[in-house]
Amino acid sequence: MTKIRILDDDIINKIAAGEVVERPASVVKELIENSLDAGASEIKISIKKGGLKLISVSDNGCGMNERDAVLALERYATSKIRDMDDIARISTLGFRGEALPSIAAVSVLRLTTRTKENTAGFQIMMTGGKKTEEKSAGCPAGTAVTVENLFFNTPVRLKFMKTETTETSHILRLVQSLALSYHEVSFELNEDGKTVIGPLPRGQSFLERISSLYGTRIAEELLPLKIKNAFLILSGFVTKPSLSYPTNKHQFFMVNTRPVSSRVLNHAVHQAYGSILMNNRHPGIFLLININPSLVDVNIHPTKKEVRFSDENGIHSVITQGIKKTLREKAIIPQVGRWAGLSERKQKIEEASQDYLIKNRFFGKEPAGDVFAFPREKGAFGKKEEPIAGGEGGIVTMGQVNNTYIVAREGSDMLIIDQHAAWERINYETLKYSHSNHSVASQRLLLPITLDFPLQHMKVIKERIEFLSGIGFEISEFGPQSFIIKSVPSLLGEKVDTRRLFMDIADLLMEYSSGKPDMEVLTDEIFKTMACKSSVKGGDRQSGEEMNHLISRLFECNMPYTCPHGRPTIIRMTASELEKRFKRT
Ligand SMILES: Nc1ncnc2c1ncn2[C@@H]1O[C@H](COP(=O)(O)OP(=O)(O)OP(=O)(O)O)[C@@H](O)[C@H]1O
Ligand SMILES: [Mg+2]
Repeated sequence: MTKIRILDDDIINKIAAGEVVERPASVVKELIENSLDAGASEIKISIKKGGLKLISVSDNGCGMNERDAVLALERYATSKIRDMDDIARISTLGFRGEALPSIAAVSVLRLTTRTKENTAGFQIMMTGGKKTEEKSAGCPAGTAVTVENLFFNTPVRLKFMKTETTETSHILRLVQSLALSYHEVSFELNEDGKTVIGPLPRGQSFLERISSLYGTRIAEELLPLKIKNAFLILSGFVTKPSLSYPTNKHQFFMVNTRPVSSRVLNHAVHQAYGSILMNNRHPGIFLLININPSLVDVNIHPTKKEVRFSDENGIHSVITQGIKKTLREKAIIPQVGRWAGLSERKQKIEEASQDYLIKNRFFGKEPAGDVFAFPREKGAFGKKEEPIAGGEGGIVTMGQVNNTYIVAREGSDMLIIDQHAAWERINYETLKYSHSNHSVASQRLLLPITLDFPLQHMKVIKERIEFLSGIGFEISEFGPQSFIIKSVPSLLGEKVDTRRLFMDIADLLMEYSSGKPDMEVLTDEIFKTMACKSSVKGGDRQSGEEMNHLISRLFECNMPYTCPHGRPTIIRMTASELEKRFKRT
């Protein structure tokens, strides 16, 4: 007896539907994409009970005549491609001819449509993939599809649905991302009779659309970004470090207008923001990526939500560099006077070499105070006022408040700098830079330090002796339960309590000892700890010279405006803010 049977169409359709229609949001996605492919400028979406009871999408697109409407519900029927070559240069969102029949197989679907040329429209009803009615109908030009009782005939799938709130939130995000990508198209989303998105007007710019979705105040928190090279055009907005979110759900990437999720892109963003944001905080990203269609494969995921780039490293690096550059140049504290000149030079070299580590011209040298000859003028703290950047745009140090904050002036603005946070940033970047150059300077201790450890610590530290030497600690075993520290990173200076610091580092080594630890993350954590311990503290009195030194060094950093833990280093009060506070305006 033969065991193998050919499955009947009903089962085949349900299996196929299982791939395309994962949840209500997948239906909304396919229907909106069809409307967009049909050239609609207005799309209305309604859902009930998280989309499980009802989803309806209507558009004012090109519509279908009777014959096309019937074909549209057949499997593999598409008007969008003819052969494989077309996929490689696809410019529509759909191309498989699978969406409508898949949805119809697992729901009660009604398609009503009319082209502008026809006076009468046409309606088809399908239940569980079977046509139940076909008739002419009076309707506006365009197409409306309603999908009721999704998964009514696939109870297992229905059981796997999350709460209505979860399903609604997937739909909301989906509509948001398509509305962002197609910002010139009008969208409206209703849930159980209430408008939850829009109506978003037609013809909006990308920024206007972001503001419509996130509130107008977001515009102040966005930095524009534009990069063009032979392969792609990258444009859009990223949030300043002052605005961040607890998840990465506010990161939108549109590859040739197709919203995609991509770990490569998320990682590129993560790397670009590096230590600017506090741990577990994420920026908002709104990026339109226009790339030659032949360099991206859209046909790797059943619902097309993931894409593959032919050069993943390339795109990763363009995005990381692009965002880093934007943050450095445009974020928060404008660099003026002499600083502007420097960053321009930096920028030119960087563009030519695509190499981010240009900062070596600044680090590893003597303190900037010696590098720049400051013009001197008579000033505040008894002796001389020293405009750090020289000329009109220079930063002039005014004094120290509470032995913790440095007050300075730049043009008509007032700057307040947290001395500890600022030094943390400076020391952290110094360490990172010298480490990437394999040159963390180390200094021999006059009196080596012996430290005792529990046995588990001993084992872990022993495994990391070489790693520790790479970051400036020369240590060796000293008996069964202790280590002797002979050299420490020079940056640490005399005031640092080396014992405590090394104990903290040992704890980090323990924390990152199981499995295959990410050494880059571990190193970063250690650098943050070292930077913190070696920095001037709040409450330490600073001389004028020291304050100037701090400000010059801070502004040589790539990210001067936050400490490595993401706290701000500088608060700027503009003249108009001061005027407001004194009720002069
Ligand atoms: N809203 C609409 N307006 C006009 N034509 C539509 C609309 N929706 C579907 N069609 C037509 O029906 C066809 C089938 O749609 P379907 O979504 O099943 O496949 P597709 O969009 O071609 O490919 P994919 O399965 O990748 O979405 C489309 O190619 C299009 O010609
Ligand atoms: Mg489609």
